[in-house]
Amino acid sequence: MKVLLVFLVFSCPFFCICGLQGRASEEEELVQQVQPVQQETYLIKECLNNKYTHNSCKKIFCHPWQRCVGGNCICKLPYQCPRNGTLVCSSSGRAFRNYCQLKTYECQHPQEKFLNKANCMPAEKFEISLDYADSQSEGLIQVKLVNHTEKLFMCNNEWSMNEANVVCTHLGFKTGAEHHKKKFEVPESALTSSQCLHATCRGLETSLMECSLIKRSNINSNQNFASVVCHKEDDRECSQFHCVNKKCIPLTETCNGINDCGDLSDELCCKECKNNSFHCNSDVCISNKYLCNGEADCLAGEDESQARCGALREQKPNPEIPEQDVVIPNSDTDEALCEQKPNPEIPEQTVVIPNSNTDEALCEQKPNPEIPEQDVVIPNSDTDEERRKIKSQLPLLKCGVTNHRITRQKRIIGGNTAGKGEFPWQVAIREGSGSVNCGGIYIGGCWILTAAHCVRQSRVNQYRIWTGIIDTIAYNQEIDTFKLKQVIIHENYNASSYQNDIALLEMKSNDKGKPCSLAYSIPACVPWSEYLFRSGHQCKVSGWGLADGYTKQFVLRWGNIHLFPNCSDIYEERFFKGMECAGTFDGSIDSCKGDSGGPLVCMDSNNVAYVWGIVSWGENCGVKGYPGVYTKVASFFDWITHHVGRSLISQYNV
Ligand SMILES: *[C@@H]1O[C@H](CO)[C@@H](O)[C@H](O)[C@H]1NC(C)=O
Ligand SMILES: *[C@@H]1O[C@H](CO)[C@@H](O)[C@H](O)[C@H]1NC(C)=O
Ligand SMILES: *[C@@H]1O[C@H](CO)[C@@H](O)[C@H](O)[C@H]1NC(C)=O
Ligand SMILES: *[C@@H]1O[C@H](CO)[C@@H](O)[C@H](O)[C@H]1NC(C)=O
Ligand SMILES: *[C@@H]1O[C@H](CO)[C@@H](O)[C@H](O)[C@H]1NC(C)=O
Repeated sequence: MKVLLVFLVFSCPFFCICGLQGRASEEEELVQQVQPVQQETYLIKECLNNKYTHNSCKKIFCHPWQRCVGGNCICKLPYQCPRNGTLVCSSSGRAFRNYCQLKTYECQHPQEKFLNKANCMPAEKFEISLDYADSQSEGLIQVKLVNHTEKLFMCNNEWSMNEANVVCTHLGFKTGAEHHKKKFEVPESALTSSQCLHATCRGLETSLMECSLIKRSNINSNQNFASVVCHKEDDRECSQFHCVNKKCIPLTETCNGINDCGDLSDELCCKECKNNSFHCNSDVCISNKYLCNGEADCLAGEDESQARCGALREQKPNPEIPEQDVVIPNSDTDEALCEQKPNPEIPEQTVVIPNSNTDEALCEQKPNPEIPEQDVVIPNSDTDEERRKIKSQLPLLKCGVTNHRITRQKRIIGGNTAGKGEFPWQVAIREGSGSVNCGGIYIGGCWILTAAHCVRQSRVNQYRIWTGIIDTIAYNQEIDTFKLKQVIIHENYNASSYQNDIALLEMKSNDKGKPCSLAYSIPACVPWSEYLFRSGHQCKVSGWGLADGYTKQFVLRWGNIHLFPNCSDIYEERFFKGMECAGTFDGSIDSCKGDSGGPLVCMDSNNVAYVWGIVSWGENCGVKGYPGVYTKVASFFDWITHHVGRSLISQYNV
C-alpha cells in the first residue's frame, strides 16, 4: 500500500484530471446520503468538546470591533476602529467618536457601557432594577430611561432569553439569566403607567440600551410584564445541557437560534435546528430573523445566498453589476428588503423617530397617519446599524473572484477544459527549463501555496513559477514567470505519511523593489475555519495531471468533486488530521499524478473561491471508492498567516 502511495505522488512529471465521463446522477446520490437525524438530541458531541462560544471565530464572525486570532475573537485597540461615525456616550458620561471606539474601550473597562448615540449631557442616566421579589437577583424588570423620572416595566410578549441575558449582563451577572418566565405579583399601586418597554436584542449586548427599544401601550393584561431570574455562578450538577460558561439549561432550549446560555454555546454544535431557526453549514443555529437581512451570519453566507434571498432582491436588480463581481457581504440591502418585507419586530403603527435606525427609517417610509401616538421608538438606542456601519468599513480583500464565469453545466460531466481566466489562481511550478512538476495556488502578494512533496529547499534557484496560464502550458503573452526568493516547507511535513504536506513559495518580484505584479492572476481566498465547508459540498479541482488512460495533458482541466464525509473509514490509519478527501462517488473525476500542489477550491454562497485543499495523494486515480486526498488548508491558516502576514489573507477581519 505504502509503495503504491509513494509511487503516486512522488515527482510526478505531468498532470491529469482523470476520467472524462461523469455520471448524471451524482447530485441525487448526494442528497439521499444525508443521514437521518436523531430526534432525542440535536447536538454534536465531538464538536461540544471544543467548548466553542461567541468568541470562537471558527464558528461565527467576530464583532467588527474584534479580530480573530488563533481561533478566538480578541478586541481591537481603539485606534484600529474607523475614525468617523456617530458620536456615542458611555454610561459614565464619557464621549467616544463612534460605537466601535466605545466597544474597544469597554473590552478593557467592562463597567463602561454604551449609553446612547448623542453628545454626552451631564446627569444622563439609564437605570434597570429588579423589583417585587425576595431576592436581588430576580424580579420584574423596571427601566428608567434617560431623562425620564418614571419607571417602565418591560413588555412580556416576544420576551426571550436573548433579552433576559442582556438585562442580567447589564446588571453585572456575568453568565446572564437563569430563567425569563418566572411570575411575580405587581402591587396595584405600582401600575401607574399604561406603557411598557419592548426590547429586541441579539443576545450578546452588554447594555440593554444597545437593543432596539420601543415604548408601547400595554394593551394586554396589566400583570403581564417581563421578569428575569439572573444566574448566580455555582457548581451544581447538570443533567441537562452544560453551557461553556457553566450554566445549566434544558436540552430543549439548545439549537433553537436563541442564545440561552448567554455565551452562545448552546447554538454552535447542532446537527439540525429547531423551529424558527436556520442551520448554517458550520452547524450553527441562527434565528430566522437574520435570514436575508443583508448581513451574513453564517460563515459561508448561506443565510444571505442569492438562491434563498433572490426572490426578495429580484425586485431591484442592478443591471450594471455583473453577477461575478465582488459581492460585499453586509452591504446595504436594506432598501431592497424593506420594500418587500415589513420589519416583523416593529408593528406598523410604530412612530418612527428620525435618527433612529429601524429599517423603516432607512427606507424613508412616509409616516402612516393612523399611527397611535403611544408607540414610540426610543431614539439613540439600538446599535445594530452602527455595528453594520463598522462592518462596511472593514478592509475587504480582493480574492476568489474571477473575471470570467466558469462555464455552468447543470450536470457534471467529468474533466472539463478550463477556459480563459476561469482559474486565475492556478500556477504551474517548473524546474529549470524542464517540465511542469506540480501545480500551485496564488494567494496574494508574492505568495504561492503548494504541496510540500512538490518542492525541495535546496532547489530554490531552479524553480520557476508560471502564472497567468490560460489553458495550455504552451507559451503565450499572458504568461509571466517568476524566480523564487524562498521555499518554506512545513516543519512537520512527513514524507512517508504525507502529514502537513504544505509549502509556501515566495516569488521574486520581476520589477526590482516593487511588489509582485501579476497581471493575469487573482488570488484564491484562504479559509480561516474548518467549518466553512462541510462534507457533501461541491468543489472544483484543477490541474494538468494525467488524463484518463494516463495520457499527458497540456491543457488545464478541471472537474467538480464533493468533499467526502468518511475519509478515515476509507483510508483508515493513513488519514490524519489536516487532510481532506474529495472525489465523485463513482470515481469519474479525480486528481492524479501531476496535479499535486494544485488547488481544490470551494465556492461560498457569493461564489467567492476559497482554496480548501492542496492536491496531495491518492490510492489510485479515478477508482471508485478511493477519493483523492488533499491537504486541508483551513487547518494551516495560522501557519500561513505567520509566514505571509495577516493582512494579506485575512478575509472579513479574521
Ligand atoms: C468616513 O471617512 C472616510 C474617509 O475620510 C470617507 O470616505 C467615508 O465616506 C466616511 N464615512 C462616513 C460614514 O462618514
Ligand atoms: C436629556 O435632556 C437634556 C436637557 O434637556 C437634552 O439636552 C438631552 O438631549 C436629553 N437626552 C435625551 C436622550 O433625550
Ligand atoms: C416549536 O415547536 C414546538 C412543537 O411544534 C412548540 O411546542 C414550540 O412552542 C415551538 N417553539 C417556538 C419557539 O416556536
Ligand atoms: C512519519 O510517518 C510515519 C508513517 O506514519 C511514522 O512511522 C513516522 O513516525 C512519522 N515521522 C515523524 C517524524 O512523525
Ligand atoms: C463513504 O461514503 C460514501 C458516500 O456516502 C459511500 O459510498 C462509501 O461506501 C463510504 N465508504 C466507507 C468505507 O464507508
